[in-house]
Amino acid sequence: MEKIIAYTRVSEAVRRKLQQTYDVEYFQNYEYIDNPSFRKALQEAKGIIGLELNVTKELLDLAPNLQIVSNVSVGYDNLDIEVMTERNVMATNTPGVLTDTVADAVLGMMLATARRIPELDQFVKKGEWKEYLQLEHFGTDLHHKTVGIIGMGSIGQAIAKRCYFGFDMDVLYYNRSRKKAVEKDYNATFCNLQDLLVQADFVVLMVPLLPETERMIGEKEFKLMKETAIFINGSRGKNIDEKALYNALINKEILRAAIDVFETEPVNPNHPLLKLENLITLPHIGAATKENELAMSLLAAENLIAGLNGDTPPNLINKEIVRSVIQ
Ligand code: DGY
Repeated sequence: MEKIIAYTRVSEAVRRKLQQTYDVEYFQNYEYIDNPSFRKALQEAKGIIGLELNVTKELLDLAPNLQIVSNVSVGYDNLDIEVMTERNVMATNTPGVLTDTVADAVLGMMLATARRIPELDQFVKKGEWKEYLQLEHFGTDLHHKTVGIIGMGSIGQAIAKRCYFGFDMDVLYYNRSRKKAVEKDYNATFCNLQDLLVQADFVVLMVPLLPETERMIGEKEFKLMKETAIFINGSRGKNIDEKALYNALINKEILRAAIDVFETEPVNPNHPLLKLENLITLPHIGAATKENELAMSLLAAENLIAGLNGDTPPNLINKEIVRSVIQ
């Protein structure tokens, strides 16, 4: 049986299915090559399926038989695609299946920050609700406000749809290219980043992590936002300058924020951002629901099996990989 590594998030049902064909070694927690059993598994592995493994040159040096890394995620900033391509190692991801799940999570963050849901939950549970509530406890409306979506890929579009149809919001967007269908379907207005930041009540960041998007929201961008703005990051932690977000929140340059992602994950419990009352945090869980974990794992397994069978995986990222690898 060929050896494969299953890493962190791969649903149990899918692992069981893979075990019928492959010798599957499962690593449930974050590992790296300093763990001898992980290192040994890498020596033999023909495939890796999982979430958030940093596939570096160093790791590839220890995996001479590796043919494919099947990410159980749409983002693939954890993979060094250039080196993988040089070595004819296929890289795949799971686009599409998670779109609605992530969009739901973003709307959840928008509502939670606007209506201060976690804060007020604590207020009630701590027994502080003793009198008629004063203005200081009130949140702000979501409906009929303006959302500015940075990154109009499929998740950005699913957010726009929810905002437009569900909450009667005006939709602004900034993207590398114009999306005429989004403009027609959700009455969205394409604008430059500066105009979006100045006008939006809710600024939603939904771009992949690329050299050109890294730290794209920093001090200058937060200063452009309204003092009443709510900022949401559902993309990658490295797309923003965390120190600038901290300063913007503490100096009340923006009203509130919610982030599902951090520059370093899991985040250090002493991180200054975690002390802020006007910030809601999540543990990078936007795509992770019970249903969607299965859907993503199934798609990732389909990619893995195709690659190991010598077929073209449906979601191959490095399509330039030499033809001799894929029949
Ligand atoms: C994704 O699919 O990219 C999610 O953020 C999980 O990493």
